[in-house]
Amino acid sequence: MNVLGIMGSPRIGGNSDVLLNRALEGAREAGARVQKIVLARKHIAGCRDCKKCNKTGICVLKDDMAGIQERILEADAVLHSVPVYFWAMTSQMKAYLDRWCVFFDAEWKWHKAYHPKMRGKRIGLLTVCGDPNPRTADPIVHSFRMTAEMTGMRWLGSVMASASDKGEIKGNEIALQEAFALGKKSAAALP
Ligand SMILES: Cc1cc2nc3c(=O)[nH]c(=O)nc-3n(C[C@H](O)[C@H](O)[C@H](O)COP(=O)(O)O)c2cc1C
Repeated sequence: MNVLGIMGSPRIGGNSDVLLNRALEGAREAGARVQKIVLARKHIAGCRDCKKCNKTGICVLKDDMAGIQERILEADAVLHSVPVYFWAMTSQMKAYLDRWCVFFDAEWKWHKAYHPKMRGKRIGLLTVCGDPNPRTADPIVHSFRMTAEMTGMRWLGSVMASASDKGEIKGNEIALQEAFALGKKSAAALP
């Protein structure tokens, strides 16, 4: 199993990063090969809605997303980790997710070039917010879960936690355990 972690916070070593690392440890323990991509270290422009990719399967924007796309195609599971910024995901994660357009045809079905690799791929999410109510991240969960549902990906679930200061999440043993379990699940045999 190949498990890919996508880190969507610009605060490297912050709470999302800690949670994702924990999830990837869980995946590794389950026998997976893991990779992590830090979106803030990549150049990812916003989707232009030019629709060319719907026909060709190739994005006209020449930046780091093509390489990330390759990693996604190779992965059996993709785990995303992101903090809440203004009741939504960070700009880094949004730019990345919008560029998933490349995987679809004009009917929002998997592009024929990618269908065999994308359908049934596992996808999971970890969120952190400063608000004491972790459900503040519900809009982000909705976004990823609907993406999974629309496309027939396998939704692994979400871990939602609260923390503010950099690394504060390290004191939240429950969130760390949940992240580890999500990572394990991403690489385990599923019913
Ligand atoms: C620009 C910005 C906007 C934020 N907006 C929210 C918000 O709407 N709701 C919330 O609960 N926390 C908000 N936060 C707090 C972060 O979600 C919180 O600090 C989180 O732990 C950051 O995670 P990180 O360490 O992975 O970057 C915001 C933080 C920043 C920098």
